[in-house]
Amino acid sequence: MKAREDADAFPRPRWHLTPPSGWMNDPNGPIRLGSRYHLYYQLNPDEPVWGNLHWGHASSTDLLHWRHEPIALWPDEQGLIFTGSVVHDTEGTAGFGAGALVAVFTQHLAGLERQSLAWSLDGGRTWTPYRDNPVLEAPPGCRDFRDPKVLGHGAGWLMVLAVGSELWWYRSQDLRGWEFADKMTPPVPSPQSIIEVPDLVRVPVEGTGTDVWTLIYSVQPPRGTARHARQVHWIPGAVRDTGFAAMTTRGGGVVDVGTSYYAALTWDLNCAEEPIAIGWMDERTAPDGGGPRSWCGRQSIPRRLSLVQRGDALALRQRPVLPDWSPSVRVVINAGSAESVALTHGTFAARVTGGGADDRIQAIRLQLDSGPANADSTSVSLGPTALEVSSSDVSVRRERVDADAGDLMLISDYGSLEVFADAGLGVASVLTPVVGSTGCMVVENDGPDPLVFEIMFATDDAGDEQP
Ligand code: FRU
Repeated sequence: MKAREDADAFPRPRWHLTPPSGWMNDPNGPIRLGSRYHLYYQLNPDEPVWGNLHWGHASSTDLLHWRHEPIALWPDEQGLIFTGSVVHDTEGTAGFGAGALVAVFTQHLAGLERQSLAWSLDGGRTWTPYRDNPVLEAPPGCRDFRDPKVLGHGAGWLMVLAVGSELWWYRSQDLRGWEFADKMTPPVPSPQSIIEVPDLVRVPVEGTGTDVWTLIYSVQPPRGTARHARQVHWIPGAVRDTGFAAMTTRGGGVVDVGTSYYAALTWDLNCAEEPIAIGWMDERTAPDGGGPRSWCGRQSIPRRLSLVQRGDALALRQRPVLPDWSPSVRVVINAGSAESVALTHGTFAARVTGGGADDRIQAIRLQLDSGPANADSTSVSLGPTALEVSSSDVSVRRERVDADAGDLMLISDYGSLEVFADAGLGVASVLTPVVGSTGCMVVENDGPDPLVFEIMFATDDAGDEQP
Protein backbone atom coordinates (compact mmCIF):
# COMPACT_ATOMS: atom_id res chain seq x y z
CA MET A 1 0.00 0.00 0.00
CA LYS A 2 2.70 2.44 1.03
CA ALA A 3 4.87 1.91 -2.06
CA ARG A 4 1.82 2.22 -4.27
CA GLU A 5 0.79 5.42 -2.55
CA ASP A 6 4.24 6.99 -2.89
CA ALA A 7 4.09 6.43 -6.63
CA ASP A 8 0.80 8.32 -6.86
CA ALA A 9 0.50 12.06 -6.78
CA PHE A 10 -3.03 11.64 -5.46
CA PRO A 11 -3.50 9.90 -2.09
CA ARG A 12 -5.51 6.71 -2.00
CA PRO A 13 -8.69 6.48 0.04
CA ARG A 14 -8.48 3.83 2.79
CA TRP A 15 -12.09 2.73 3.23
CA HIS A 16 -13.01 2.83 -0.45
CA LEU A 17 -12.01 0.35 -3.11
CA THR A 18 -9.88 1.80 -5.92
CA PRO A 19 -8.34 -0.04 -8.90
CA PRO A 20 -4.66 -1.13 -8.65
CA SER A 21 -4.08 1.20 -11.62
CA GLY A 22 -6.12 2.46 -14.54
CA TRP A 23 -9.81 3.26 -14.64
CA MET A 24 -12.74 1.96 -12.52
CA ASN A 25 -16.45 2.51 -13.00
CA ASP A 26 -19.54 0.41 -12.13
CA PRO A 27 -19.52 -2.41 -9.61
CA ASN A 28 -20.31 -5.71 -11.37
CA GLY A 29 -21.57 -9.09 -10.19
CA PRO A 30 -21.37 -8.70 -6.41
CA ILE A 31 -21.61 -12.11 -4.76
CA ARG A 32 -20.70 -13.52 -1.35
CA LEU A 33 -19.13 -16.98 -1.31
CA GLY A 34 -18.73 -18.40 2.19
CA SER A 35 -17.54 -15.47 4.26
CA ARG A 36 -15.84 -13.67 1.36
CA TYR A 37 -17.45 -10.85 -0.60
CA HIS A 38 -16.45 -10.74 -4.26
CA LEU A 39 -16.78 -7.62 -6.32
CA TYR A 40 -16.09 -7.34 -10.04
CA TYR A 41 -15.98 -3.90 -11.58
CA GLN A 42 -15.61 -2.03 -14.85
CA LEU A 43 -11.86 -1.71 -15.38
CA ASN A 44 -9.58 -0.22 -18.01
CA PRO A 45 -6.24 -1.65 -16.84
CA ASP A 46 -4.21 0.38 -19.34
CA GLU A 47 -4.93 4.00 -18.44
CA PRO A 48 -7.03 6.03 -16.00
CA VAL A 49 -9.71 6.90 -18.56
CA TRP A 50 -12.94 5.13 -19.60
CA GLY A 51 -12.46 2.61 -22.41
CA ASN A 52 -11.17 -0.92 -23.18
CA LEU A 53 -13.44 -2.36 -20.51
CA HIS A 54 -12.63 -5.56 -18.62
CA TRP A 55 -14.03 -6.98 -15.39
CA GLY A 56 -11.56 -6.26 -12.60
CA HIS A 57 -11.96 -8.31 -9.42
CA ALA A 58 -11.38 -7.73 -5.72
CA SER A 59 -12.48 -9.68 -2.65
CA SER A 60 -12.83 -8.97 1.03
CA THR A 61 -14.13 -10.47 4.24
CA ASP A 62 -15.15 -7.15 5.81
CA LEU A 63 -15.84 -4.85 2.82
CA LEU A 64 -13.14 -2.45 4.09
CA HIS A 65 -9.88 -4.31 3.42
CA TRP A 66 -9.68 -5.59 -0.15
CA ARG A 67 -7.52 -8.16 -1.90
CA HIS A 68 -6.94 -7.51 -5.59
CA GLU A 69 -7.61 -10.63 -7.65
CA PRO A 70 -6.57 -11.40 -11.25
CA ILE A 71 -8.62 -9.69 -13.97
CA ALA A 72 -11.75 -11.80 -14.50
CA LEU A 73 -12.97 -11.00 -18.04
CA TRP A 74 -11.14 -9.58 -21.06
CA PRO A 75 -12.65 -7.99 -24.18
CA ASP A 76 -12.84 -10.43 -27.12
CA GLU A 77 -14.29 -10.59 -30.64
CA GLN A 78 -17.78 -10.08 -29.17
CA GLY A 79 -16.79 -6.71 -27.74
CA LEU A 80 -15.87 -4.84 -24.58
CA ILE A 81 -17.04 -6.26 -21.27
CA PHE A 82 -19.74 -4.02 -19.82
CA THR A 83 -21.79 -4.32 -16.63
CA GLY A 84 -23.61 -7.46 -15.49
CA SER A 85 -24.30 -9.88 -12.67
CA VAL A 86 -23.11 -13.24 -11.33
CA VAL A 87 -25.36 -16.12 -10.27
CA HIS A 88 -24.61 -19.35 -8.47
CA ASP A 89 -25.94 -22.14 -10.70
CA THR A 90 -26.14 -24.78 -7.97
CA GLU A 91 -28.06 -27.26 -10.16
CA GLY A 92 -25.85 -26.73 -13.20
CA THR A 93 -28.82 -25.66 -15.38
CA ALA A 94 -26.50 -23.92 -17.87
CA GLY A 95 -24.45 -27.07 -18.43
CA PHE A 96 -21.22 -25.65 -17.02
CA GLY A 97 -21.33 -27.98 -14.00
CA ALA A 98 -23.31 -28.07 -10.76
CA GLY A 99 -22.23 -25.21 -8.53
CA ALA A 100 -20.75 -23.17 -11.38
CA LEU A 101 -20.73 -19.41 -11.06
CA VAL A 102 -22.16 -17.86 -14.19
CA ALA A 103 -21.50 -14.25 -15.16
CA VAL A 104 -24.12 -12.65 -17.40
CA PHE A 105 -22.87 -9.37 -18.88
CA THR A 106 -23.16 -6.99 -21.80
CA GLN A 107 -20.66 -6.96 -24.64
CA HIS A 108 -20.40 -3.74 -26.57
CA LEU A 109 -19.10 -3.81 -30.13
CA ALA A 110 -19.26 -0.99 -32.65
CA GLY A 111 -22.34 0.58 -31.04
CA LEU A 112 -24.17 -2.76 -30.65
CA GLU A 113 -24.97 -4.37 -27.31
CA ARG A 114 -25.61 -8.05 -26.61
CA GLN A 115 -25.56 -10.32 -23.57
CA SER A 116 -22.92 -12.99 -23.02
CA LEU A 117 -22.01 -15.63 -20.45
CA ALA A 118 -18.82 -16.79 -18.77
CA TRP A 119 -18.44 -19.48 -16.11
CA SER A 120 -16.14 -20.24 -13.23
CA LEU A 121 -15.59 -23.46 -11.33
CA ASP A 122 -12.93 -22.10 -8.97
CA GLY A 123 -14.97 -19.70 -6.86
CA GLY A 124 -14.94 -16.78 -9.28
CA ARG A 125 -11.16 -16.54 -9.70
CA THR A 126 -10.82 -17.64 -13.33
CA TRP A 127 -13.53 -17.43 -15.97
CA THR A 128 -14.18 -19.12 -19.31
CA PRO A 129 -16.29 -17.25 -21.87
CA TYR A 130 -19.17 -19.41 -23.22
CA ARG A 131 -18.26 -20.56 -26.73
CA ASP A 132 -21.66 -19.67 -28.23
CA ASN A 133 -21.76 -16.06 -27.04
CA PRO A 134 -23.77 -13.90 -27.32
CA VAL A 135 -26.90 -15.47 -25.81
CA LEU A 136 -29.17 -12.47 -26.39
CA GLU A 137 -28.89 -9.82 -29.09
CA ALA A 138 -30.57 -6.41 -29.22
CA PRO A 139 -33.55 -6.07 -31.55
CA PRO A 140 -32.62 -4.16 -34.73
CA GLY A 141 -32.23 -0.43 -34.15
CA CYS A 142 -32.03 -0.80 -30.37
CA ARG A 143 -28.90 0.95 -29.24
CA ASP A 144 -29.04 0.79 -25.42
CA PHE A 145 -29.60 -2.82 -24.40
CA ARG A 146 -27.47 -3.61 -21.41
CA ASP A 147 -26.56 -4.37 -17.82
CA PRO A 148 -28.33 -7.71 -17.19
CA LYS A 149 -29.30 -8.49 -13.62
CA VAL A 150 -30.20 -12.17 -13.35
CA LEU A 151 -31.85 -13.88 -10.42
CA GLY A 152 -33.22 -17.31 -9.72
CA HIS A 153 -37.02 -17.35 -9.87
CA GLY A 154 -39.16 -20.46 -9.40
CA ALA A 155 -37.51 -23.27 -11.32
CA GLY A 156 -35.78 -20.90 -13.74
CA TRP A 157 -34.13 -17.53 -14.13
CA LEU A 158 -35.35 -13.97 -14.59
CA MET A 159 -33.32 -11.23 -16.26
CA VAL A 160 -33.89 -7.48 -16.23
CA LEU A 161 -32.17 -5.34 -18.84
CA ALA A 162 -31.89 -1.56 -19.23
CA VAL A 163 -33.25 -0.61 -22.65
CA GLY A 164 -33.30 3.16 -23.19
CA SER A 165 -35.83 4.55 -20.72
CA GLU A 166 -37.43 1.12 -20.19
CA LEU A 167 -36.67 -2.07 -18.34
CA TRP A 168 -37.20 -5.34 -20.26
CA TRP A 169 -37.73 -8.68 -18.57
CA TYR A 170 -36.67 -12.05 -19.95
CA ARG A 171 -37.04 -15.64 -18.69
CA SER A 172 -34.82 -18.67 -19.08
CA GLN A 173 -34.53 -22.27 -17.94
CA ASP A 174 -30.81 -22.63 -18.66
CA LEU A 175 -29.29 -19.11 -18.79
CA ARG A 176 -28.52 -19.72 -22.50
CA GLY A 177 -31.93 -19.30 -24.15
CA TRP A 178 -33.89 -16.18 -23.19
CA GLU A 179 -37.56 -15.48 -23.88
CA PHE A 180 -38.97 -11.93 -23.72
CA ALA A 181 -41.55 -11.62 -20.91
CA ASP A 182 -42.51 -7.99 -20.31
CA LYS A 183 -41.39 -4.38 -20.27
CA MET A 184 -41.99 -1.45 -17.92
CA THR A 185 -41.17 2.23 -17.65
CA PRO A 186 -40.13 3.06 -14.11
CA PRO A 187 -40.39 6.64 -12.84
CA VAL A 188 -37.64 8.81 -14.37
CA PRO A 189 -37.07 12.58 -14.18
CA SER A 190 -37.51 13.06 -17.94
CA PRO A 191 -38.96 10.77 -20.65
CA GLN A 192 -35.65 10.99 -22.51
CA SER A 193 -33.62 9.80 -19.52
CA ILE A 194 -31.60 6.64 -20.03
CA ILE A 195 -31.79 3.87 -17.47
CA GLU A 196 -28.71 1.83 -16.65
CA VAL A 197 -27.72 -0.92 -14.22
CA PRO A 198 -31.00 -2.31 -12.84
CA ASP A 199 -30.93 -4.42 -9.69
CA LEU A 200 -33.63 -6.33 -7.87
CA VAL A 201 -33.29 -7.41 -4.26
CA ARG A 202 -35.40 -8.28 -1.23
CA VAL A 203 -35.03 -5.65 1.49
CA PRO A 204 -36.24 -6.34 5.05
CA VAL A 205 -38.88 -4.09 6.58
CA GLU A 206 -37.56 -3.24 10.03
CA GLY A 207 -39.37 -4.80 12.95
CA THR A 208 -41.80 -6.87 10.85
CA GLY A 209 -39.90 -10.04 9.89
CA THR A 210 -40.99 -9.43 6.28
CA ASP A 211 -39.18 -8.16 3.21
CA VAL A 212 -40.14 -6.31 0.07
CA TRP A 213 -38.71 -6.75 -3.42
CA THR A 214 -37.01 -3.51 -4.31
CA LEU A 215 -36.02 -2.40 -7.77
CA ILE A 216 -32.93 -0.23 -7.87
CA TYR A 217 -31.91 1.51 -11.11
CA SER A 218 -29.60 4.27 -12.26
CA VAL A 219 -30.78 7.19 -14.35
CA GLN A 220 -28.64 9.14 -16.75
CA PRO A 221 -29.93 12.51 -17.97
CA PRO A 222 -30.93 12.70 -21.64
CA ARG A 223 -28.07 12.77 -24.15
CA GLY A 224 -27.08 16.30 -25.07
CA THR A 225 -28.63 18.05 -22.05
CA ALA A 226 -26.53 20.11 -19.70
CA ARG A 227 -24.62 17.91 -17.29
CA HIS A 228 -26.61 17.20 -14.19
CA ALA A 229 -26.45 14.50 -11.62
CA ARG A 230 -26.79 10.91 -12.60
CA GLN A 231 -28.67 9.28 -9.75
CA VAL A 232 -29.82 5.96 -8.40
CA HIS A 233 -33.56 5.43 -7.79
CA TRP A 234 -35.58 2.76 -5.98
CA ILE A 235 -39.16 1.47 -5.99
CA PRO A 236 -40.80 -1.25 -3.90
CA GLY A 237 -42.90 -3.92 -5.60
CA ALA A 238 -43.39 -7.61 -6.17
CA VAL A 239 -41.68 -10.12 -8.46
CA ARG A 240 -43.98 -11.93 -10.89
CA ASP A 241 -43.25 -14.68 -13.41
CA THR A 242 -43.08 -12.01 -16.08
CA GLY A 243 -41.07 -9.43 -14.16
CA PHE A 244 -41.84 -6.81 -11.57
CA ALA A 245 -45.05 -5.13 -10.41
CA ALA A 246 -44.06 -1.71 -9.07
CA MET A 247 -45.95 -0.34 -6.05
CA THR A 248 -45.07 3.32 -6.42
CA THR A 249 -47.72 4.38 -3.93
CA ARG A 250 -45.81 2.48 -1.24
CA GLY A 251 -42.61 4.52 -1.64
CA GLY A 252 -39.57 5.02 -3.81
CA GLY A 253 -37.40 7.90 -4.92
CA VAL A 254 -33.77 8.90 -5.18
CA VAL A 255 -31.40 6.72 -3.16
CA ASP A 256 -28.67 9.34 -2.74
CA VAL A 257 -29.24 12.99 -3.60
CA GLY A 258 -25.52 13.70 -4.04
CA THR A 259 -23.66 13.93 -7.33
CA SER A 260 -21.41 10.94 -6.95
CA TYR A 261 -23.25 7.68 -6.35
CA TYR A 262 -24.15 5.72 -9.45
CA ALA A 263 -24.66 2.27 -10.94
CA ALA A 264 -25.35 0.74 -7.52
CA LEU A 265 -25.66 -3.04 -7.18
CA THR A 266 -26.26 -5.20 -4.11
CA TRP A 267 -24.93 -8.27 -2.44
CA ASP A 268 -28.13 -10.25 -1.92
CA LEU A 269 -27.56 -12.14 1.31
CA ASN A 270 -30.70 -14.27 0.91
CA CYS A 271 -32.70 -12.43 3.56
CA ALA A 272 -30.47 -13.90 6.26
CA GLU A 273 -28.92 -10.45 6.55
CA GLU A 274 -29.69 -7.05 5.10
CA PRO A 275 -28.52 -6.69 1.51
CA ILE A 276 -25.48 -4.47 1.02
CA ALA A 277 -25.32 -1.92 -1.81
CA ILE A 278 -22.24 -0.39 -3.38
CA GLY A 279 -22.07 2.28 -6.10
CA TRP A 280 -19.47 3.99 -8.27
CA MET A 281 -18.10 7.43 -7.40
CA ASP A 282 -17.00 9.11 -10.63
CA GLU A 283 -13.68 10.82 -9.95
CA ARG A 284 -13.97 12.83 -13.14
CA THR A 285 -16.32 15.09 -11.21
CA ALA A 286 -13.68 15.70 -8.50
CA PRO A 287 -12.95 19.38 -7.81
CA ASP A 288 -9.35 19.12 -9.00
CA GLY A 289 -10.43 17.31 -12.19
CA GLY A 290 -9.03 14.09 -10.84
CA GLY A 291 -5.47 15.37 -10.42
CA PRO A 292 -2.41 13.61 -11.83
CA ARG A 293 -2.61 9.97 -10.89
CA SER A 294 -2.23 6.42 -12.13
CA TRP A 295 -5.81 5.46 -11.18
CA CYS A 296 -9.27 6.99 -11.42
CA GLY A 297 -12.57 5.95 -9.83
CA ARG A 298 -13.59 4.54 -6.49
CA GLN A 299 -16.46 2.52 -5.09
CA SER A 300 -18.68 4.06 -2.41
CA ILE A 301 -18.68 2.92 1.16
CA PRO A 302 -20.88 -0.23 1.19
CA ARG A 303 -24.35 0.39 2.67
CA ARG A 304 -26.68 -2.03 4.47
CA LEU A 305 -30.23 -1.56 3.25
CA SER A 306 -33.48 -1.81 5.15
CA LEU A 307 -36.98 -0.38 4.79
CA VAL A 308 -38.85 1.54 7.44
CA GLN A 309 -42.65 1.65 7.50
CA ARG A 310 -43.89 5.21 7.84
CA GLY A 311 -47.69 5.35 7.66
CA ASP A 312 -48.63 3.75 4.33
CA ALA A 313 -45.24 4.34 2.75
CA LEU A 314 -41.82 2.77 3.04
CA ALA A 315 -38.59 4.74 3.45
CA LEU A 316 -35.17 3.36 2.54
CA ARG A 317 -32.50 3.29 5.22
CA GLN A 318 -28.80 2.99 4.32
CA ARG A 319 -26.24 2.32 7.02
CA PRO A 320 -22.55 2.49 6.05
CA VAL A 321 -20.25 -0.47 6.68
CA LEU A 322 -17.47 0.84 8.96
CA PRO A 323 -14.89 -0.60 11.37
CA ASP A 324 -16.15 -1.14 14.93
CA TRP A 325 -16.98 2.24 16.37
CA SER A 326 -14.10 3.44 18.53
CA PRO A 327 -13.95 7.23 18.40
CA SER A 328 -10.73 9.03 19.25
CA VAL A 329 -12.50 12.32 20.00
CA ARG A 330 -15.80 12.87 21.80
CA VAL A 331 -17.09 16.35 22.62
CA VAL A 332 -20.38 17.68 23.87
CA ILE A 333 -21.32 20.82 21.98
CA ASN A 334 -23.73 23.00 23.87
CA ALA A 335 -26.63 24.81 22.29
CA GLY A 336 -25.47 27.83 20.33
CA SER A 337 -21.75 27.03 20.58
CA ALA A 338 -19.08 25.73 18.21
CA GLU A 339 -16.00 23.50 18.47
CA SER A 340 -13.04 23.09 16.16
CA VAL A 341 -11.65 19.57 15.76
CA ALA A 342 -8.24 18.85 14.18
CA LEU A 343 -8.37 16.26 11.41
CA THR A 344 -5.22 14.25 11.97
CA HIS A 345 -5.89 11.68 9.24
CA GLY A 346 -7.52 11.97 5.82
CA THR A 347 -9.89 9.04 6.41
CA PHE A 348 -12.48 9.41 9.13
CA ALA A 349 -16.08 8.98 10.15
CA ALA A 350 -17.78 11.63 12.27
CA ARG A 351 -21.03 11.05 14.11
CA VAL A 352 -23.41 13.48 15.74
CA THR A 353 -26.09 12.33 18.13
CA GLY A 354 -28.68 14.28 20.04
CA GLY A 355 -27.63 15.04 23.59
CA GLY A 356 -31.00 16.39 24.76
CA ALA A 357 -33.96 14.61 26.26
CA ASP A 358 -35.38 13.40 22.92
CA ASP A 359 -32.17 12.66 20.89
CA ARG A 360 -33.31 15.11 18.25
CA ILE A 361 -30.80 16.95 16.06
CA GLN A 362 -32.42 20.32 15.35
CA ALA A 363 -29.77 22.35 13.57
CA ILE A 364 -26.09 21.69 13.06
CA ARG A 365 -23.48 22.96 10.63
CA LEU A 366 -20.17 21.21 9.99
CA GLN A 367 -17.43 22.79 7.93
CA LEU A 368 -14.49 20.75 6.64
CA ASP A 369 -11.36 22.75 5.82
CA SER A 370 -8.57 21.09 3.92
CA GLY A 371 -5.83 23.18 5.43
CA PRO A 372 -3.29 25.48 3.79
CA ALA A 373 -3.02 23.41 0.57
CA ASN A 374 -6.59 24.12 -0.48
CA ALA A 375 -8.75 27.09 0.42
CA ASP A 376 -12.01 25.36 -0.61
CA SER A 377 -14.13 24.08 2.22
CA THR A 378 -17.03 21.67 2.29
CA SER A 379 -20.07 22.21 4.45
CA VAL A 380 -22.85 20.00 5.72
CA SER A 381 -25.85 21.57 7.32
CA LEU A 382 -28.76 19.77 8.86
CA GLY A 383 -31.61 22.10 9.71
CA PRO A 384 -35.10 21.39 11.05
CA THR A 385 -36.40 20.60 7.55
CA ALA A 386 -33.47 19.90 5.19
CA LEU A 387 -30.00 18.44 4.73
CA GLU A 388 -27.66 20.52 2.59
CA VAL A 389 -24.18 19.57 1.41
CA SER A 390 -21.99 21.93 -0.55
CA SER A 391 -18.46 21.65 -1.79
CA SER A 392 -16.59 23.53 -4.54
CA ASP A 393 -19.17 23.88 -7.30
CA VAL A 394 -21.55 21.24 -5.90
CA SER A 395 -24.61 21.99 -3.81
CA VAL A 396 -27.26 19.41 -2.98
CA ARG A 397 -30.32 19.44 -0.77
CA ARG A 398 -32.78 16.90 0.61
CA GLU A 399 -35.88 17.35 2.72
CA ARG A 400 -35.44 15.64 6.06
CA VAL A 401 -37.36 12.42 6.31
CA ASP A 402 -37.55 12.39 10.09
CA ALA A 403 -35.81 14.81 12.42
CA ASP A 404 -36.34 12.35 15.28
CA ALA A 405 -34.85 9.36 13.50
CA GLY A 406 -31.35 9.52 14.96
CA ASP A 407 -27.76 10.23 14.15
CA LEU A 408 -25.91 12.11 11.45
CA MET A 409 -22.84 10.40 10.01
CA LEU A 410 -20.13 11.82 7.74
CA ILE A 411 -17.49 9.68 6.04
CA SER A 412 -14.59 11.52 4.49
CA ASP A 413 -11.86 9.60 2.67
CA TYR A 414 -9.30 11.54 0.64
CA GLY A 415 -11.60 13.31 -1.74
CA SER A 416 -15.05 11.83 -1.08
CA LEU A 417 -17.72 12.72 1.46
CA GLU A 418 -20.76 10.57 2.16
CA VAL A 419 -23.41 12.00 4.47
CA PHE A 420 -26.02 9.80 6.17
CA ALA A 421 -28.61 11.97 7.93
CA ASP A 422 -31.53 10.85 10.12
CA ALA A 423 -29.90 7.48 10.85
CA GLY A 424 -29.44 6.70 7.17
CA LEU A 425 -32.84 7.88 5.85
CA GLY A 426 -31.35 10.83 3.93
CA VAL A 427 -28.08 10.26 2.05
CA ALA A 428 -25.88 12.55 -0.06
CA SER A 429 -22.46 11.69 -1.54
CA VAL A 430 -20.14 14.20 -3.19
CA LEU A 431 -16.52 14.50 -4.23
CA THR A 432 -14.61 17.15 -2.31
CA PRO A 433 -11.13 18.64 -2.09
CA VAL A 434 -8.86 16.18 -0.29
CA VAL A 435 -8.89 16.76 3.46
CA GLY A 436 -5.51 15.52 4.69
CA SER A 437 -3.84 15.56 8.08
CA THR A 438 -3.67 19.37 8.14
CA GLY A 439 -7.41 19.90 7.97
CA CYS A 440 -9.92 20.83 10.60
CA MET A 441 -13.65 20.61 11.12
CA VAL A 442 -15.72 23.34 12.75
CA VAL A 443 -18.92 22.03 14.30
CA GLU A 444 -21.59 24.56 15.18
CA ASN A 445 -24.65 23.61 17.18
CA ASP A 446 -27.46 25.96 16.12
CA GLY A 447 -30.17 24.06 17.96
CA PRO A 448 -31.67 24.35 21.44
CA ASP A 449 -30.16 21.15 22.91
CA PRO A 450 -26.61 19.89 23.40
CA LEU A 451 -25.20 17.55 20.73
CA VAL A 452 -22.57 14.85 21.05
CA PHE A 453 -19.87 14.85 18.37
CA GLU A 454 -17.51 11.89 17.88
CA ILE A 455 -14.84 11.19 15.30
CA MET A 456 -13.05 7.97 14.39
CA PHE A 457 -9.93 8.08 12.22
CA ALA A 458 -8.79 5.19 10.04
CA THR A 459 -5.94 3.19 11.48
CA ASP A 460 -2.88 3.11 9.24
CA ASP A 461 -3.24 -0.48 8.17
CA ALA A 462 -6.69 0.02 6.64
CA GLY A 463 -6.77 -0.26 2.86
CA ASP A 464 -5.40 -3.46 1.34
CA GLU A 465 -6.15 -6.78 3.00
CA GLN A 466 -3.12 -8.08 4.89
CA PRO A 467 -1.67 -11.27 3.32
C1 FRU B 1 -23.01 2.80 -16.33
C2 FRU B 1 -22.56 2.18 -17.65
C3 FRU B 1 -23.32 0.91 -17.95
C4 FRU B 1 -22.38 0.18 -18.86
C5 FRU B 1 -21.04 0.54 -18.29
C6 FRU B 1 -19.94 0.69 -19.31
O1 FRU B 1 -22.05 3.64 -15.77
O2 FRU B 1 -22.71 3.12 -18.69
O3 FRU B 1 -24.60 1.12 -18.50
O4 FRU B 1 -22.58 -1.20 -18.89
O5 FRU B 1 -21.21 1.77 -17.60
O6 FRU B 1 -18.71 0.96 -18.68
